[in-house]
Amino acid sequence: MKILAFESSCDETAVAVVEDGRTVLSDVIASQADMHAVYGGVVPEIASRKHVEVIAALAEQALREAGCCREDIDAVAVTYAPGLIGAVLVGVNFAKSVAFSMGVPLIPVHHIRGHIAANYLAFPELEPPFLALAISGGNTLIVDVRGYTDMQILGATRDDAAGECFDKAARVLGLPYPGGRPMDELAQQSEGGAYKLPRSHVAGAELDMSFSGLKTAVVNLVHHAQQVGEPLDRAALARDFTQAVSDELVPRVMEAAHRTGRTIIVAAGGVAANTIIRADLEQACRQQGCTLYLPPLRLCGDNGAMIGAQGYYEYLAGHTAGMDLNAYATMDLDA
Ligand code: KG4
Repeated sequence: MKILAFESSCDETAVAVVEDGRTVLSDVIASQADMHAVYGGVVPEIASRKHVEVIAALAEQALREAGCCREDIDAVAVTYAPGLIGAVLVGVNFAKSVAFSMGVPLIPVHHIRGHIAANYLAFPELEPPFLALAISGGNTLIVDVRGYTDMQILGATRDDAAGECFDKAARVLGLPYPGGRPMDELAQQSEGGAYKLPRSHVAGAELDMSFSGLKTAVVNLVHHAQQVGEPLDRAALARDFTQAVSDELVPRVMEAAHRTGRTIIVAAGGVAANTIIRADLEQACRQQGCTLYLPPLRLCGDNGAMIGAQGYYEYLAGHTAGMDLNAYATMDLDA
């Protein structure tokens, strides 16, 4: 079954053709990151307009690169939540019109379910059940993936997402947007240990996380150093900050594995590209006897192929939509 898949929830317009949820026939992405970089973050109105400008041409390109014509497509999948509402709407409306004109089913896909499904593309042997650590720009979740479309959130951030925290901390350190990757590179230049940063604890909800205190601590630390003219070891701060994020994530997902008895752990989302977090996950999984799946870097960030992968399993579960499908800025993963 060939699915034409659309992703437009933030600042990447992405279209892919995926066969049977596992084989990528094409995967094209138009990133707007440069456009938003001058503002230090995504400007929603600009994001929506850019999606409108490129989505039709990208769909043609995805079909061409897959060696497909329109008649070869069996269904259309699209991210319908969560994300920037104007941006998601562009993809949803375009996908609706494509599905209607081709006369094929329309499959709504939750963006984070898509991030998790990116692993099916990289690891043919991977099947639920497993635990997923989904860490992206807008979401931070520990998910029990009981089946391809049967998921339960075990832990979540109470405030900011891990990626958002990276982007804000990077900005105050003078790094370009999006800050995750430059922060990662800067952190490699130091052993750290120079700055004491907070770790959170949510009483009664040990698997929940919090990043706003850490974000504020870094912002205050940098501003204070600037005000009093103190030198700042930016690389050490990047390293200590990243370690603090990793300490927030890794022990909790391992605790979730311990509690549920799951022995397979899967990482997902843009922050899963982080070198230190990947290394910490590898070490923790080795110690606890868990099998770890880390998606290749190109599948960590937003892409259309992951929507095609999850779309296939949503289709098999009968989760299709009519032409009244709406877009949503927020939506529970396990709804
Ligand atoms: O999954 P994604 O591409 O978009 C969302 O669905 O949100 O994640 C984007 C986030 C950004 O916050 C970006 O700074 C972060 O992923 N990111 C990283 C790295 N690469 C991207 N964070 C830490 N280390 C990285 N190497």
